[in-house]
Amino acid sequence: MRIDIVTVSPELIKSPFEHSILKRAQDKGKVEVFFHDLRDYAINKYGKIDDYQFGGGAGMVLMIEPIDKCLSGLMEQRNYDEIIYMTPDAKTLDQGTANILSAKKNLLILTGHYKGVDQRIRDKFITMEMSIGDYVLSGGELAAAVLCDAVIRLIPGVLGDETSALTDSFQDNLLAPPVYTRPAEYKGMKVPDILLSGNFPKIDDWRHEEALKRTKLIRPDLLNK
Ligand code: ADE
Repeated sequence: MRIDIVTVSPELIKSPFEHSILKRAQDKGKVEVFFHDLRDYAINKYGKIDDYQFGGGAGMVLMIEPIDKCLSGLMEQRNYDEIIYMTPDAKTLDQGTANILSAKKNLLILTGHYKGVDQRIRDKFITMEMSIGDYVLSGGELAAAVLCDAVIRLIPGVLGDETSALTDSFQDNLLAPPVYTRPAEYKGMKVPDILLSGNFPKIDDWRHEEALKRTKLIRPDLLNK
């Protein structure tokens, strides 16, 4: 997979890709990630990329021209399966969407800043708009990093068996069951006996029951999906 990320703050988003599973995925050749600085497409030598919004109102809007130049240049070089705009006024990312995106070849992600981007960019280029939750971040960079993490870890071969994504929360619309590790008893707090029993079918049943209990309590909405 190839992911191109267009941003006004490349430095803000690079770091998560330099560690842990996202780094390993790149080292293994499972994904290539490229960052594109919108300022390289500024409309003047002072690096102008944003302007006041028509009609008045607080906050700057990212201008159409720099984004058009950047996206058009990238789109001339390859076909993108999706051109994704990170914004709070969109559908929320979920595991199903991450699963679908993990099977794609080329993704282009545009991150907004300030008041967002000129609507004409959204109308002309964007094929998918995505929020990571009902709150507003200072920019779309962290949201893009979240999306990339959720997607990249699902690419076959990125995770080993020991960290298989299939047992994650949400893969079956259930929250994950509780997990424990050694010691089996700590300051009088015991690990449930069943997990020490070696009876794996029973352990599976117990985990499923616990996952259901947790989901009913914390996220009953998931059970109706
Ligand atoms: N940009 C600002 N807030 C965001 C959010 N919640 N999701 C995606 N992009 C954003």
